[in-house]
Amino acid sequence: MAQHTPIGDRPSSHPENEKSARFYKGDCQDQVNMGRVLVKKRNIPKGARVLDIGCGPGNLTVEIADGVGPSGSVVGVDLSEARINIARKTFTNPALDTFRPNLSFLAGDAHNLEFPDNHFDFVVANAVIHFLDLRKSLVEINRVLKPGGGFAACTAAGEYLFAPIEIKKEVQSREQYRAAHIDPNLGVFAFPKQSHFEDVLVETGYHSTEIDVIHGIIVREDPKAMINFLDASWSETYIRCIPEKLQATAWDDFEKEFEKLRTERGIEIDLAWMNVYTTKAPADNHPSD
Ligand SMILES: C[S@@+](CC[C@H](N)C(=O)[O-])C[C@H]1O[C@@H](n2cnc3c(N)ncnc32)[C@H](O)[C@@H]1O
Repeated sequence: MAQHTPIGDRPSSHPENEKSARFYKGDCQDQVNMGRVLVKKRNIPKGARVLDIGCGPGNLTVEIADGVGPSGSVVGVDLSEARINIARKTFTNPALDTFRPNLSFLAGDAHNLEFPDNHFDFVVANAVIHFLDLRKSLVEINRVLKPGGGFAACTAAGEYLFAPIEIKKEVQSREQYRAAHIDPNLGVFAFPKQSHFEDVLVETGYHSTEIDVIHGIIVREDPKAMINFLDASWSETYIRCIPEKLQATAWDDFEKEFEKLRTERGIEIDLAWMNVYTTKAPADNHPSD
């Protein structure tokens, strides 16, 4: 089975900068739409204390904060300081209309959260779990959740092929990339399969898991727009992780492959994603007890 490689360990000559973070904020509507479906079904109660893991620039986090109301609170955590800065500037400045007093942001790693045990009523992880070490992050989320607390995660379903991953592996395995000592798996990760996700949830102390698999599409007007969207979504590890000397060639090669996915709507890719809902076992039912 393909391994999940934490994003921090993935080779990248281009650590995320402010520009890329801003680009993501302007082009994350697909993720936010999926996140809305995720949180709407679970109906996080008013007054809940919520953690949004891998919150990015906070576009979904603010909607969760509005949902829990003034008696609740939401903290967004993200590895990218650039994204956290944008989120703070947008939502934590009392001088702006977008200010939310029940919302805060912290730069940090989902594998090692700076919160006490049993702290949150609910944790959300939208479009991030595939960048993490699944087991390690589920253990950490379990630690910070109160017993009986809820966890909702959205990620693509590993049972289905995702064209951008197939294209990336195929292009990077071509002779001229190999000759430049580029690993075909540079920046590649695998989406978790449903049965694997369920098994790891049981092993790490969750119960009552429900999973919805939803089929959708992502469309951009041309290959360049699609590649820019993917690269920002993958924190610059889709194409900008390829060494400088092959960048122009890589853009050309990737664009040609995405052009083959053109329909009357534009460049179109299928996406099957999983909405995973689960609960931390109550204290008397935890496997480690
Ligand atoms: C595709 S974006 C999703 C952002 C947001 N949840 C949304 O729905 O728009 C993935 C996010 O996960 C963050 N991320 C990746 N690895 C992380 C880690 N180890 N800890 C915390 N955040 C991480 C990235 O910086 C990025 O902002």
